[in-house]
Amino acid sequence: MSLDQAATKPHEALAEMLSSDMESVNRLIQERMASEHAPRIPEVTAHLVGAGGKRLRPMLTLAAARLCGYDGPFHVHLAATVEFIHTATLLHDDVVDESEQRRGRPTANLLWDNKSSVLVGDYLFSRSFQLMTETGSIDVLRILSNASATIAEGEVLQLTAATDLRTDEDIYLQVVRGKTAALFSAATEVGGVIANADSETVQALFDYGDALGIAFQIADDLLDYQGDSTQTGKNVGDDFRERKLTLPVIKAVAQATPKERAFWQRTIEKGRQEDGDLEHALGLMAKHNTLVATRDDALVWTDRAKSAINTLPDHEIRDLLSGIADYVVARLK
Ligand code: IPE
Ligand code: IPE
Ligand code: MG
Ligand code: MG
Repeated sequence: MSLDQAATKPHEALAEMLSSDMESVNRLIQERMASEHAPRIPEVTAHLVGAGGKRLRPMLTLAAARLCGYDGPFHVHLAATVEFIHTATLLHDDVVDESEQRRGRPTANLLWDNKSSVLVGDYLFSRSFQLMTETGSIDVLRILSNASATIAEGEVLQLTAATDLRTDEDIYLQVVRGKTAALFSAATEVGGVIANADSETVQALFDYGDALGIAFQIADDLLDYQGDSTQTGKNVGDDFRERKLTLPVIKAVAQATPKERAFWQRTIEKGRQEDGDLEHALGLMAKHNTLVATRDDALVWTDRAKSAINTLPDHEIRDLLSGIADYVVARLK
């Protein structure tokens, strides 16, 4: 498959295959994001949910359940749960990161305020827990509540690690595994669990989601420097302005000359940024070839995701999930 095809095709093919389930998920999301009592809630949720989003995580839950032959109704609840957890973390994340653009729209914290984003995020988290209890599965509750705690831990770890130049690739991986991969692995795992799949299959789905989530976040960190904001719907260079050490910068710091190290200390550790600093940072990453090296790392995780599900029986959805592993790194948005 060419790079262009990998950038869109598997995602579209899987969406097409799961379209009727996905419509049910979207209906459930619409229904449960409303509130009769606090008008600010539907305003904020409609703003964010109406802007779309790739719906990648709920798609993974639906795909995993189908792959395991599930024919009950609850994969739809689980997919909606996962998207609610994701949306809640985005509301909170944009407050923490002071971001101004999300899904091609001004962020809720910019349009309303931090208070609304935090509280509506809490509301969506709580709604997600209501939804998952409807499945009646304690295993599912355990997996998704663990994932929620792990996401929060990852975000908090990042708070202290992100501006510290001692942060190395191991700590970066720990952050990414927490803040992003935990929801991907939970999304795929619960699809298997609700279908009563055997433990090896559930483990394979977990491992796939974990590696996929890591590849996804590494690619996201690349898009932050190399992406086209009309595609990503987020501002380019946000991570640098937010003083966030991501993999391309961690690799550049590891190879920095004393003068370069002083630059990273000033801009990332002390946060004293001036005009032209982002361009200089990009120049240093080019000099040390770290954007290419970061992409290579993402591709290693893509391969790990694919090999995790290699052992599963031949299935059309398994092949599409392999394609999704290519897509998360090739994607432009
Ligand atoms: C954004 O996730 C948050 C990250 C983990 C980088 P997505 O890129 O999946 O966000 P939407 O839902 O498509 O907007
Ligand atoms: C994504 O983290 C948010 C969570 C996974 C909770 P980032 O801060 O890196 O992602 P964007 O760039 O805001 O989407
Ligand atoms: Mg952010
Ligand atoms: Mg963040």
